[in-house]
Amino acid sequence: MVKAYKIDENIIRYTFGRPINTDAVVVVRGEDIGNREMPYVNILSSENLLITYKMDDLDIVYGLGQNQRGINKRGGIYESFCSDDPNHTPNKKSLYGAHNFIIVDGKEKFGIFIDYPGKVKFDIGFTHKEYLEVSLDDNNVYVYIIEGENSKAIVKSFLNIIGMGYVPPKWAFGYQQCRWSYEDKDEIEEVANKFIENNIPCDTIYLDIDYMDTYKDFTVSNERFSDFSNFVKKMKDKGFRLIPIIDAGVKIQEGYDVYEEGIKNNYFCTDESGNPFVAAVWPGKVHFPDFLNKEARLWFGLKYNILVDCGIEGFWNDMNEPAIFYTERGIKEAIHRAKESEGKNLDMDTFFDLMDTFRNVNNNDEDYKAMYHNMDGKRLNHYHVHNLYGYNMTRSAGEAFEHIDKNKRFLMFSRSSYIGMHRYSGIWTGDNHSWWDHILLNLKMMPSLNMCGLLYSGADTGGFSEDANSQLLIRWNQFSMFTPLYRNHSAKGTRRQEPYAFEEETKDILKNMIEIRYSLIPYIYSEYMKAILNRHMYFMPLSFEYEDVMSKRVENQLLLGDSLMVAPLYEENSLGRYVYLPEDMLLWKAKQYDERNYEVMKKGHAYVDIPLEEVAIFIRKNKILVLGNSARNVDSMDNSSISVIAFVEDKATYALYDDDGVTKEFKEGKYSEIEIVIEKKDEDFEITIENSGNEEIKTIKFEIIDVLGNVIEKRVQV
Ligand code: GLC
Repeated sequence: MVKAYKIDENIIRYTFGRPINTDAVVVVRGEDIGNREMPYVNILSSENLLITYKMDDLDIVYGLGQNQRGINKRGGIYESFCSDDPNHTPNKKSLYGAHNFIIVDGKEKFGIFIDYPGKVKFDIGFTHKEYLEVSLDDNNVYVYIIEGENSKAIVKSFLNIIGMGYVPPKWAFGYQQCRWSYEDKDEIEEVANKFIENNIPCDTIYLDIDYMDTYKDFTVSNERFSDFSNFVKKMKDKGFRLIPIIDAGVKIQEGYDVYEEGIKNNYFCTDESGNPFVAAVWPGKVHFPDFLNKEARLWFGLKYNILVDCGIEGFWNDMNEPAIFYTERGIKEAIHRAKESEGKNLDMDTFFDLMDTFRNVNNNDEDYKAMYHNMDGKRLNHYHVHNLYGYNMTRSAGEAFEHIDKNKRFLMFSRSSYIGMHRYSGIWTGDNHSWWDHILLNLKMMPSLNMCGLLYSGADTGGFSEDANSQLLIRWNQFSMFTPLYRNHSAKGTRRQEPYAFEEETKDILKNMIEIRYSLIPYIYSEYMKAILNRHMYFMPLSFEYEDVMSKRVENQLLLGDSLMVAPLYEENSLGRYVYLPEDMLLWKAKQYDERNYEVMKKGHAYVDIPLEEVAIFIRKNKILVLGNSARNVDSMDNSSISVIAFVEDKATYALYDDDGVTKEFKEGKYSEIEIVIEKKDEDFEITIENSGNEEIKTIKFEIIDVLGNVIEKRVQV
């Protein structure tokens, strides 16, 4: 029997011991219902919590946000422990985020959220193929059991209690260019000019660590980025917003104000003896701000204002697992082991041990165990609350933005995260590789992240590490052009992968793809905002909408919002792929945003040719796709005249959402909606439009495609 608290009709929270309040869940109404058995699962140990569930052969397990393997997590073992691991190979158990939410979808349907900020292990049919086992080395934890008719309903209930998701400014839905590292103003300006010369739309250019003075947060190198505010303005006038990186570690340097203030006010994490904890990252030795301490959080957050004052409107938070290159302890241990080995004839085990000691100097658990927080006056060992660090760094910025400019939306995304962080920002999926497999991994992660509320997300398009070739970059763009965060990023020393970095033909294809993205923004933004407001997902597995058996098996296609299905290519030299259609759909093989071709695809399996220069966009039956026009950037989009592609058997409806794109007034209901209804009447289609508040759109050009593939064109005034 476990202490139970009924939050609503679908959710009961079970309390083991005295859990730490992570603030993951924000809606806690309801009633204490005494002690109850936890349904569905068995508790094998309440000392070190161990929960098991016997799965049926066909049960699917969804969830775990940012992690390896499939959309269906069965067969894997996963550990929630935010890790700075740049090699996202299938053997890895942890990536940068910790998202302890899973859904069992089979004979029983329920969700489990383990609200525990230390390491949690999910063994999903790995050790014993039919057993799901969740375990942790602690017994102070909240476990939420979430019921619902189906996975979609369970997600909705979960999103309801963790609170409304982050909404970026609309310009953050444009194409974004990054690279570690654009060294100085000249290089940034050259990138901007290349986009302009080549007529390729782009909204932002990123400042990676090299904009700072010796990697010190909230400083700007005077040598390479002199007169920064003017430069930010100049770039904005050219049409590009600059987005600087902020790292978690604060350089230890006398005279550096962030360091001095942190020391003076005890705002840094401490070691065993209460002195500021020392580790090394980019700037050399650093202290880590104690983001679990409310005061420190606000202090650090308000520092973002230094850059906001220079005209900056967005940031990316990095190295906030927190990543540790080394500590004195780690180095000493490695040197000690090396010295011990000197002159010896090492046997195999000793040699590999020695290698591991060096390999494990960075991000070592021993270091995390030696670090402490002060959370509301309570001293906490970092290891047990590790997964809260990145989340609270980003929360620090999010909370401060409310002070800096309450009504303004800032672009913000983080590398590390925990459930709850979605209220303050999105995430990018970290240091992937220019590997074909990572396109597929990117696709699989998207719905899993959406289940945890993280909607504003995307991967380093083209791959961060290693060199991309042109076809990989093109194919990756043909998926990323659908992700809310659409950013091309690559590591220092790798082959350049801006859209113009390859030969003309590649450049032209990428330009077309980016233009298609801009034309999709009315739909993408509308679906994103409706998902946020209604607690839905933006990307869904097919099985969330279709109940047939095959839809449950598909791991390489996604539904995007109400109307679309995407099925990208992720294999080298493939000029087509197999696609599963759970119903008849309309295929638009888009080459350019304003060029059309349609093919009605029959329900079932099909092989679709998709040449390099085309992206396959599937429009569901009785659904509507709204398309705007491309532009240099989001601010200069002219959507007074837009178009609609509708695939209609009998009746299709669509609600096109829009708002000012920059303020938070949508929360007070200040947004517009155009309700479009297309209904088949004899041989014709009747269109009704109800506009509540959209002042931009004046005319809509309709292309209605019936089930036989006949195209009926109409133009309607709004
Ligand atoms: C980390 C980030 C990467 C960034 C690099 C340098 O590896 O994940 O995106 O470019 O640091 O700041």
